Amino acid sequence: MPGLRDLKDRVAVVTGASSGLGRGLARAVAARGSRVALVARRTDRLEELAAEIRSAGGTALVVPCDVGSPEEIEDAAAHVLAEYGRLDLLINAAGYARHSLFKDQDPQDAERMMRVNYFGVANWVRAALPPMRERGEGWIVNLSSFAGRLGQPDEATYAATKFAVTGLTESLAMELQPLGIHVMCVYPVLVRTEMFDEATLDRMPERTKKSFIEVEEFCDTVLAALGRGAFEVTVPRRFGLVYLIRLLFPGMMRRQTSAIRLPVLPDLRR
Ligand SMILES: NC(=O)c1ccc[n+]([C@@H]2O[C@H](COP(=O)([O-])OP(=O)(O)OC[C@H]3O[C@@H](n4cnc5c(N)ncnc54)[C@H](OP(=O)(O)O)[C@@H]3O)[C@@H](O)[C@H]2O)c1
Repeated sequence: MPGLRDLKDRVAVVTGASSGLGRGLARAVAARGSRVALVARRTDRLEELAAEIRSAGGTALVVPCDVGSPEEIEDAAAHVLAEYGRLDLLINAAGYARHSLFKDQDPQDAERMMRVNYFGVANWVRAALPPMRERGEGWIVNLSSFAGRLGQPDEATYAATKFAVTGLTESLAMELQPLGIHVMCVYPVLVRTEMFDEATLDRMPERTKKSFIEVEEFCDTVLAALGRGAFEVTVPRRFGLVYLIRLLFPGMMRRQTSAIRLPVLPDLRR
């Protein structure tokens, strides 16, 4: 399956387009000539981005949708198809994180997080399959997380939702390839977005905060990976080495992660 190098005249759905990585990717894909459908709940922000894309000569459609609702996803996908008539690229960037200890997490929030972060991705993939199958080609990009490859303290439920996305994406990469559909998993490490609000930053060690990269660098790396037909990409790419260290020295990895992350959690033993 070839990579998707030329985005001109393609149709792309980007979830989570109202902020951060989704917004950056929607902008980047539109700037390369695709017609984009902007999906999220905050329509004022989507309208703002759509206006920006149109004023630069692009085409954008605002599609309000809570990805935690399978019915809303079905309606949103039907709306995109009615407007654009096809779907070439689906980028699943909608999701949220909660930095909190497992013992303190509201179980209802844990269920909601799984509904949004995992089922939101799975249901958008399901909705994208018929139009992609009809054309015999398509590209799906799912945003997992570094925490979707390596468990992290203070992010247990979030990591679980992202491990689910990783499992789904790796499996579909094989299952859908014979149908002409390329599936890529993205593992962002730390990209500066609104996901890292003050409360979240307070629970992160100082040395970790030095690893943040900007959204533009993230988007360039992801689209380059899509262009060469990669099945996965960790951003920044140098962090891919950590998976190898985890494989070879799991005890050391666990001790080191604990030593870095636990001391800044005042409520650990409370
Ligand atoms: N930034 C990082 O370093 C990092 C690291 C690892 C993984 N990630 C993953 O990357 C993705 C994007 O994160 P970000 O950093 O860009 O965060 P962000 O700036 O907070 O953006 C999150 C986006 O998800 C959308 N969203 C959340 N819940 C939704 C729902 N129920 N229905 C529809 N849209 C929903 C939000 O839109 P509305 O609120 O308008 O609906 C927003 O557009 C997430 O899946 C996140 O887990 C990010």
